[in-house]
Amino acid sequence: MSQRVEMHICLGSSCFSRGNKEVVMFIREYLRKNHLEDKVIFKGARCMGRCSNGPNLNINGVIFEGVTISKIEGILEKELARLM
Ligand code: FES
Repeated sequence: MSQRVEMHICLGSSCFSRGNKEVVMFIREYLRKNHLEDKVIFKGARCMGRCSNGPNLNINGVIFEGVTISKIEGILEKELARLM
């Protein structure tokens, strides 16, 4: 399994209106606190075509839908555990 994780968060307008900005801030802070900035590539992405289910986050090719601020920590803990 790859030791590198690539995450892309949708920055389209629908995901924006559903709160992706707070999720972006949370992810940045999480990566910093856990010293994962070198192991995780985190970028913005264009609309993923799943607007009504946003905010959407792609982690190594798997799209997570409805990634709200209440769900993001659990997702990161599970998906990034192998890097820590
Ligand atoms: S705006 Fe995010 S999937 Fe379309």
